[in-house]
Amino acid sequence: MEHTRPIIALLYDYDKTLCTQDMQNYGFIPSLGMAPEDFWRLANAFGWHEKMDGILAYMYIMLREAERRDRPFTREDLVEAPKYAALTFDDGPRADTTGRLLDGLLERGAAATFFVIGEQVPCNKELLQRMKAEGHQIGNHTYSHVRLLKADKDAVVEEIHKTEVLLTEAVGEGSFWLRPPYGLIGSERSELIRTPMIYWSVDPQDWKLLNKDKVVAAVLEAVQPGDVILLHDFYSTSVDAALEIVDRLQKEGYDFVTVEELFRIQGVEPQQGTLYARPDRVRTLS
Ligand code: NI
Repeated sequence: MEHTRPIIALLYDYDKTLCTQDMQNYGFIPSLGMAPEDFWRLANAFGWHEKMDGILAYMYIMLREAERRDRPFTREDLVEAPKYAALTFDDGPRADTTGRLLDGLLERGAAATFFVIGEQVPCNKELLQRMKAEGHQIGNHTYSHVRLLKADKDAVVEEIHKTEVLLTEAVGEGSFWLRPPYGLIGSERSELIRTPMIYWSVDPQDWKLLNKDKVVAAVLEAVQPGDVILLHDFYSTSVDAALEIVDRLQKEGYDFVTVEELFRIQGVEPQQGTLYARPDRVRTLS
């Protein structure tokens, strides 16, 4: 499915003026393995023509998925409501554990989001480049894992900016969304933040449990479609748990996407300085 690559790139920063004729001309309806008439009949049945953003986001995900499994989509794939969740990993990258996690995610066709510590960027450039190349999202977890609730304003700006500069050096320009360490930031400090901020909706406390089976059980018990799951690629037990979570939930029909993709799928435009537990749930700041 080589020909879908430029389309994926196009969709990634998609242009809202893209019209249905373009969609056909660019070849991405044919690449789904369906006749265009069938596709549009389905699209109309779902009312998709009224929400182009949703269609584009959905197609982007489908194309990515089709590339991964290397088979065209069937009508059933489109009709069955997909379930999405986002795995997020804090406090990395760490050479021995993050590399193994990336291998496992690649094998399973799962995407994730990594909120990295700035200090650890220079010595892990290759891992970060690999994350980007393999379709993961990279976010900012401050330079030295500070408590943004109590830090003074200059320090907040500095901690975030320094990490952005290092990330740009490592992987190029991008919008590096923030996960405040410990999920803590006040409303006054949040006004300094120029990106969306991501909290979580499922927290198995992997750093405390340090036990694969317990972490897997805690996530499986709590998870719902649309959730943002908090884990730490810093711990070997968490890497093992994450891969088992992917295996178990993929069997239940879940697809693992980045946080940014989850917003697109749900048609939510994330706002800068807002802390989200998941795209449809904003967390109140203190
Ligand atoms: Ni952290």
